[in-house]
Formats: sequence, C-alpha cells, structure tokens
Amino acid sequence: MPHGSLANTNSSDRTFVPACARGLQRLAAILLCACVVVPAQVRSASAAPAHLAAPAHIAHLAIDPADIVSPVSPTLYGMMTEEINHSYDGGLYAELIQNRAFRTSWVGIEHWDLVRRGSANATMTEDLSSGPSSALPHSLQLTVHAASSGSEAGISNSGYWGIGLRPHTTYKGSFYAKVEDDAIGPLRASLISDSTGALLARAEVSLKAGPWTRYEYTLTTGAIAPSSTNHLQLTVAHPGTLWLQMVSLMPPTFHDRPNGNRSDLMERMAGLHPKFLRLPGGNYLEGDTLDDWYNWEKTIGPLVDRPGHQAPWTYYSSDGLGLLEFLDWCEDLHVEPVLAVYAGYALRGQHINPGKDLQPFVQSALDEVEYVTGDASTRWGAERARDGHPAPFPLHYIEIGNEDWFDKSGSYDARFAQFAKALRKQFPQYKLIATAPVKESSADGQPDVLDEHYYKPPAEMMDFVHHYDDAPRTGPKIFVGEWASMSGTPTPNFASTLGDAAWMTSLERNSDLIVMAAYAPLLVNVSPGALQWTPDLIGFDAMKSYASPSYYAQSLFAEHLGDGTPRSSVSGAGDRFFYSATVGSHDHVLHLKLVNASSSDQPLSIELSGSTAARSATVISLHGASYEATNSIEEPNLIVPKTTSASVPAGAWQHIVPGLTIQVIDIPMP
Ligand code: AHR
Repeated sequence: MPHGSLANTNSSDRTFVPACARGLQRLAAILLCACVVVPAQVRSASAAPAHLAAPAHIAHLAIDPADIVSPVSPTLYGMMTEEINHSYDGGLYAELIQNRAFRTSWVGIEHWDLVRRGSANATMTEDLSSGPSSALPHSLQLTVHAASSGSEAGISNSGYWGIGLRPHTTYKGSFYAKVEDDAIGPLRASLISDSTGALLARAEVSLKAGPWTRYEYTLTTGAIAPSSTNHLQLTVAHPGTLWLQMVSLMPPTFHDRPNGNRSDLMERMAGLHPKFLRLPGGNYLEGDTLDDWYNWEKTIGPLVDRPGHQAPWTYYSSDGLGLLEFLDWCEDLHVEPVLAVYAGYALRGQHINPGKDLQPFVQSALDEVEYVTGDASTRWGAERARDGHPAPFPLHYIEIGNEDWFDKSGSYDARFAQFAKALRKQFPQYKLIATAPVKESSADGQPDVLDEHYYKPPAEMMDFVHHYDDAPRTGPKIFVGEWASMSGTPTPNFASTLGDAAWMTSLERNSDLIVMAAYAPLLVNVSPGALQWTPDLIGFDAMKSYASPSYYAQSLFAEHLGDGTPRSSVSGAGDRFFYSATVGSHDHVLHLKLVNASSSDQPLSIELSGSTAARSATVISLHGASYEATNSIEEPNLIVPKTTSASVPAGAWQHIVPGLTIQVIDIPMP
C-alpha cells in the first residue's frame, strides 16, 4: 500500500463495553474524571481556549481494572494451517528430498537428474509397472549400461530450493529398491556442495537381489559451514538395473520425532503462544474438484501406503505430514486441534448432494473423529494405536467444511444439518462450527460457532475494528478462523502489523463472543516460485526462518492476555489509535495494549481506578520506521520487540505512544 495511505478510522471517543455487559452499563463509573466522552465531531466543533490547544491532543484513557465487564476466551489465539506456500512439503515437514515418490510431468521425473560421471552410460525412466505398494505402484528405473569406480551412474536431487546442511549433524536416509542382480551395488549416498562439488557426507548401502525392500542409511557431516546449496546423489559403480521409490532424507526433527517437523519452525510457532491449531485447511480441505478432497484415510499409516494427492495451491502434496502428524504437531506444541472435516464442496463450485450421496463423507467424518479421539477399543482408535499413538487426542471443536459461503447452490444448510445430526448423535460432547450462516431451523442444523474470515488492506482492517462491538450475543459464538491485513510480501510490512494489532484489540474486546481467532496463512517458503499467497506470518527457506513484525505483535498480544475485560473508555485520541485492556485474575496484572498507527506521537493520560500507589510496569514496544518497514530472510531482526520499564504513578499517568508503535504494558494490580 502507498506510504501514508492508512485510512481514518473511528476508534476514538468510544466506550468499549461488550454487548453482553451493555445492559449493566453504569456511565457514572466510566467517567472517572471530569472529562466527558463526546463524539469527535461535536468536540472538534466546540471552541477551546487557545492555551488548551496543545493539551487537547492528549487522549484520556480511563480503566477500572476491578470492574470486569466481560470474559476473555481462554482459547482466543491459535493457528490456522494448510498446505500452501510449501508450508509442509519444503517447509515444516522436515523431508529434504523433493518428489521422493518420483511423480512425472512433461519435464520428466521432476526434481531428479541423471548422474553420469566420467565415462558412465545410463538412463533414467519411469516404470509404471513396478512399485513397492498399491499406493505407489510406479518407480524410477535406473538402467546402467556402463559404470565403474570414478565413473559412477545414478540420480541426484536438489531438495526444496536446496538441501540445508549443518556441521556435525546426522541425516537419516531411506529408500525402497528392487534389484535384479546385486552386482550393480553397493549404492552410494553422497551429500555434495553445489558450488564447490565437495563431498560433505557419504554412506554405502549393500543391495540384495530380489523384490522391493526398504533400506536405511545415515549421512553425518563434519566441520562444514552451514549452507543450503547442496544436493543428494545416489550412485552405483557397476552396470545393471535398479528400481527406486520413496527416496527420503530427514534431518534431526523437533522432539526427535521420526517423520517429524523442522525444529526452527516449531519453535517459531510455540513463540506465538497458541491455544489451538485449525487443520487441515483452508482450501486444502476442499480441493479444486470433488476428487481432490482431503481424504484423511489416505494420509495415515506407513509412508509407502500414502499416495499423496493433488492439492489446490498448484502442487501435489506428499501427505508425509498426514492426519497423525498434524495431531503430533498439536501435542508437541500443547495445543488442541480444531478439526475441520470435509463437507462435500469443491473450490470450482461443485458439491455433493445432501442425502445418500453425502452419506459416505459423513461416515468418513465420523471415522476421522474416532481416529482422533477414540480409545483403542474402537475401530479407528485401534488404527491410531497401530500407527503409534495409543492415547486419544483432546478435541473440543469440529468444523464442518471451509468457506461454504462460496457454495452458490445453497446446499450448505442441508449438508451442515446432515453432518451435524450424525456428529451430535455419536459425539454429543463436541461443539460444531459452521463456515457459513445456517438457515435451517432444526436443532441439529444450528452451529455452536460460526467461522468468519477477513482479509483486508490495513486501512480497511482499522475501519473494521468495531464490527463485533454491537454484534448480537444471542446466536452462535464466533471463530475468526482466518484473518490478515494484506500489505507486504512475502510477509507483512509494518502497515499490516498495525492493522493486525488494531484488529487484535477488537478480538480481545469482543472475546466474550469471539472464542477463537487465527491469522492466515501461517507459513511461507520465500524461495523464488514457492509461494501462492502473500502476506504470510512466518518466512523461511531451506536453511533459515524469520518472524515478521506481525508475528511479534501477535506473540505479544497472546502472551500478555488476561481473562477479563475491565470497564474502560478513551477520549480525545487520534483516529488511528486503538487499545485493549485485559486483567489476569490469577496474576493480578493489567495487560494494556496501545496501538498508534499514526506517524505522530500519541500522548495519553492514563487513569487507573483505585491506583493509590506507584508501581513499576513492563513496557514492550514494537516500532516500525515506516509503514513499509519489515523483516526479511536477509534482515530478520529489523523490527523486534524492545522491553523497558516504567514507573506508573498513583492517579493519572502521562504516557506517550510514539508514532508507528505498538506497546504492550503489564501493570501489576494491588
Ligand atoms: O488462507 C488462504 C486461503 O484463504 C484459505 O485456504 C481459504 O480458506 C481462504 O480463502
């Protein structure tokens, strides 16, 4: 967005009291000083004495921390995820080899090259008639006509925009192979620097003649410099024929989980202090066509039994990160899944008719919930136990579909009702989330929660911050399952960060209604050609990751959150000033969030009711030098939170929020 084009909003001169508490409003308690809250246009029209002109810019913020008017949801902040921008394959899922299952396109076997060193002579073709499983019935056939020591033949793979390698690190490799004559071997696995050709690690695997067999090897680096410009070679030094499938190489993973996740990205996510993970999408749940739906059953069990599937964000998903891995991810971050089940709508507009056509999908959803939550005495709970996780996972929310407001046929009411009836019968303990308003009047047809999504330019996001202030509190609760201010690429710039922070003040203020909220998308591989959507919260390449300024704002808002919203009011603030106040009943801390999206300072007089003694407060500031300022993979720490302390006097406290600054202030309460 152009510099300085943040639109005006109407955030000042409002008394933020959620609707549920509105009936109890006591205006006298709000007006803690002589200052009367009047609409801005009235105040600016009234003539003020000249000597008061400067102080008129001082806003007055009054908070009564002891007067809690509404609760804050304990699950307010969480994460939304899907396979987009190579979030999983080439991202969180730690697999280093791209196209390990040898899918082909018009360019041949994508991401694999034939290696013919010296005088070696060989061909590499796809064999559609032989593979290690019914899910992977094909393979790469390497036919070596001539090879010898120093003139090896084989294949190579450059990973996902490189293979990130670190010093003194062990990488676990595996592959399936079928060999006619073991004289072709051994197979040598080598990690090689692209730029120097240096051999960084090597292993030899003896091959056995016979049917498809799984082989393992390890590659350990020495004192190398960390880099991502490396590739894997698999070579042999003798003539013969070799079929390969599922060629994998895994670095150390978070919590050392086999088939696990990248540690740096897991740590970044933990830093968001999330309470839930909405999975598996997003559009990823739906797919472009009815054939491309997220069929969770094909994403569990041994990797060799997972065919993968065409995902909507242009590329094929390996499903190496499948349903159980999603759940492990939740367990590792101590968050609960918000499980979205496929509801019979495809992105190109087709739907499955409610009734008998939809019934198999309803059954699939019931089975999926049983796989997540059933004990080992249930059919699908037993399957999960066989897959390595005997204990059921916690669950509270099931979402039926994703963005079904796009279904112009009007079938969602009946589709939702069919799913709701079956789910409520078998699993009455879970809350159901609809993705579009449901008109159906039957009890089964009513959702407990409605999922609403907002993607807006920062200025519009700021204009939108009062959307829920007057929303009815009588219907379903709200899940803001996707939201983002849309400026900056590949990750949000500071204009977006300010829009996001302004929006979060409204989430907190209305958290009696909004039970959960999640920014989207969460992850982006910033390598050329890897992204499909921008901006995204956390950027990474094959080696490194970084947090956007909005990430820091979200982390701060989630970490410093009370469980109740106190009565408060503001007057005289600029039109791009936003705030949130929450109080922790256990730690007795007032968590004050101040967002100054203007480039001018915002002076404040902050009055805390009952404040009779001075206190020391912690002030954490996030400041951008311009609306366009941001972090990047090259400059990851341009905008980071800075912590200072402040003495908060008894009575009114004069405080300045600098321009383009977000502050989170923790003030201990008596
Ligand atoms: O977050 C990107 C996409 O935006 C999601 O897949 C979809 O639900 C929404 O339209």
